[in-house]
Amino acid sequence: MSEPLLVVRDLTVDFPVPSGSYRALDSVTLNVSRGETVGVVGESGCGKTTLARAILGLEKPSAGSIEFRSPRGVEGLGMVWQDPSASLDPRWTVAQSVAEPARIHRKHVDVGALLREVGLDESHGSRYPHELSGGQRQRVAIARALSLRPDLLICDEPTAALDLSIQSQILNLIRDEQRKLGFSVLYISHDLPTVRFLCDRIVVLYLGRIVEEGASAELFESPRHPYTRMLLDSVPSMERVGQLPPGGMGEIGSRPEKGCVFAPRCPHADDRCRSEAPPLVAAAGRAAACWKPFGPPASSDA
Ligand SMILES: Nc1ncnc2c1ncn2[C@@H]1O[C@H](COP(=O)(O)OP(=O)(O)O)[C@@H](O)[C@H]1O
Ligand SMILES: [Mg+2]
Repeated sequence: MSEPLLVVRDLTVDFPVPSGSYRALDSVTLNVSRGETVGVVGESGCGKTTLARAILGLEKPSAGSIEFRSPRGVEGLGMVWQDPSASLDPRWTVAQSVAEPARIHRKHVDVGALLREVGLDESHGSRYPHELSGGQRQRVAIARALSLRPDLLICDEPTAALDLSIQSQILNLIRDEQRKLGFSVLYISHDLPTVRFLCDRIVVLYLGRIVEEGASAELFESPRHPYTRMLLDSVPSMERVGQLPPGGMGEIGSRPEKGCVFAPRCPHADDRCRSEAPPLVAAAGRAAACWKPFGPPASSDA
């Protein structure tokens, strides 16, 4: 893969809460190269949206750095949020919403052509969001995000609010546009099959920490971290319906004071896991933060 476009290093984000502060992201390091699709997965509450917001400059890091190496700065960033109803202004026509980034950056875009590109009709331009279906609204949000031809498109659960039958249409649209235009994608989702379909590389987040990272196919074939395996085991498949883990996956917990963040839920945790946080150890393009990873023992790259 070519040179990195997005370089996130040791990103830490703390939110003030009544009891002090809550660490939503803890020393997160990740790169996205030009043309690459990187997936970020994890259950609700693990820090995915905070990561997207921090990259967009909407959350202030308490430590670490975010470098977006596009010569066009923020103009080179496109964003698609989970809920198109919330991200489109109800008082604006579709055409006004699609043209908004261009207006802000004093550019001109062909709104009709953008609407056709995402599978809508030019006549949709004069409509209002409430006159459209959920899928059509997400197409409008995608047209807007792609209007200035971003170098990086960040998608935060873009299909989560849509009917199952519409989800694959939106995924195909994102993939087709990426093939045509060549932008990089940071694809955030709790839905593993979707992420596998789209992404070259996957980063697994748990309670604000990266617990595993690797090429998509390898990570799905042989997860190293028990959390990744738990996520994979919870994906209902035709063969496994009715065989979900007894009691389900449990709930994302609160961060333990020391040790591995996943230890309280981990079936393999021992005393060391509960007292000492495992570092993210990289080996041959894979990385896992676990004292007892599955698969071959992690060896050093050096
Ligand atoms: N503005 C905020 N103030 C306090 N806590 C927040 C704020 N935003 C997010 N959080 C907390 O940070 C954690 C991560 O949230 P979020 O990034 O939205 O997770 P995800 O998108 O993975 O569901 C959650 O525990 C959430 O409650
Ligand atoms: Mg979220």
